[in-house]
Amino acid sequence: MRKHERSAKGKVVGMEADTCIKGAHILYHGEVLKGCIAISDGKIAFLGKEANAPRAERILDARGLLALPGPIDAHVHLRDEGLAYKEDFYSGTCSAVAGGITSVLDMPNNSPLVDSASRLAERARKARGTIVANVGFYSLLPADLNGLRAIAEAGAVAIKVFMHEPRTELPVWDEAMLLKAVSLANRLGLPVAFHAEDPGIIGEAKCKLRPGLDPVSKFVLSHPPEAEVEAVGKLARLLRGLRVHICHASVPRAVELAKGAGFTVEATPHHLFLSSDLYERLGPIALMDPPLRPRELVMALRALLYDGLIDIVASDHAPHALGEKLSTDHVPPGIPGLETMLPLLLNEVAEGRLSLQHLISLVCEGPARIFGLRAGRLEVGWPADLVLVDLRAKHVVKPDAFFSKAKFSPFEGLELRGRPIGTIVNGQLAFWDGEVVARRGCGRILKPEGQSRGQGDEVPS
Ligand code: DOR
Ligand code: ZN
Ligand code: ZN
Repeated sequence: MRKHERSAKGKVVGMEADTCIKGAHILYHGEVLKGCIAISDGKIAFLGKEANAPRAERILDARGLLALPGPIDAHVHLRDEGLAYKEDFYSGTCSAVAGGITSVLDMPNNSPLVDSASRLAERARKARGTIVANVGFYSLLPADLNGLRAIAEAGAVAIKVFMHEPRTELPVWDEAMLLKAVSLANRLGLPVAFHAEDPGIIGEAKCKLRPGLDPVSKFVLSHPPEAEVEAVGKLARLLRGLRVHICHASVPRAVELAKGAGFTVEATPHHLFLSSDLYERLGPIALMDPPLRPRELVMALRALLYDGLIDIVASDHAPHALGEKLSTDHVPPGIPGLETMLPLLLNEVAEGRLSLQHLISLVCEGPARIFGLRAGRLEVGWPADLVLVDLRAKHVVKPDAFFSKAKFSPFEGLELRGRPIGTIVNGQLAFWDGEVVARRGCGRILKPEGQSRGQGDEVPS
């Protein structure tokens, strides 16, 4: 399997790889093999027995570690621009690689919003040269559906619709309009991801709040499980069979409705591993949207995960300044999650509740399939994005040490088994043994591949 190249004089010569990762166990096609991974020009050049490996300029000693394909976190708010005080492209992608994540998909509720091809291109321009993990971008629906084609051509990975706070001038509450928008997006090759909460139920619940409640209780009571079930039910009736993705499903009934309609479903580690009793102890530190659910619902959601009904796990990394979270009147929902997601899932593997292959399906293969990305596979010729993990390493979640600007977590103090030790992005070592060692800009901008694009009809105005 030695890689060859032709020299200038036309002679075939043995080629050296840039890097050879030696001594690791490698998860390859569902089996754990002992071998070597060689990397050339940012791609995997060789995968196999050490005796057959090419010579390499650099050797990375990975004895005792397990090499996995680089995880793709499909739900991340990297912020930057007007919200850079919460997180920026550099701090957010440092947080990613420190958490063993090599690719992230960035949400569009930024300041300014991402709702056009030019905004998306502008954001990609700012990210390039800074990011140390790969980044793909979501867009909101444009005010005029004719703008969708340019959004697809600009390389959006998906469209995001926030049902309860649309952030678009397009009337997405109008069912005919929503159907038209999702159908067109799909024809242009774009899946449509939903934050599914029914605004009517949220509004009614807000009206019924008794006076004098603290901001966290107000938020939790006005975002009940029924708001999610109602919203997913509506989408299931309207958009059955279309390429629809349900973000951060927190209620088992909503997962069943979504799967019944052929949608893909995402769950977050916080909805899978934490329950609403935590609000008493942590208040705003554990507030996110959707909020944590009662224990019975959490157990049932986790059972759906183990049963294979949940397609992907994503962090919904939604950083805020600590001062904002501790404000006495308005508490923004959202918690950082990039540095805890993989450790929490590795802990499930180490404890024997989740198989390694299932983990890879949830954070590598699933997101790659849903969003059409050439990433998340350990295979010769594919981009060399991978993570080296120690499945035995015990550690305690310490938000003070996060690379994210948001140094808080509802998982603080939890002891976990299994942690990322090294993260490689495009063939370059980005994180090693607790330190970000990446060259700024080693991340690439992710665009969907291999899908029918550009076949959408223009919408008459
Ligand atoms: O918890 C959340 N935070 N949920 C959302 O839908 C938005 C997000 C954010 O941007 O902070
Ligand atoms: Zn959301
Ligand atoms: Zn989100």
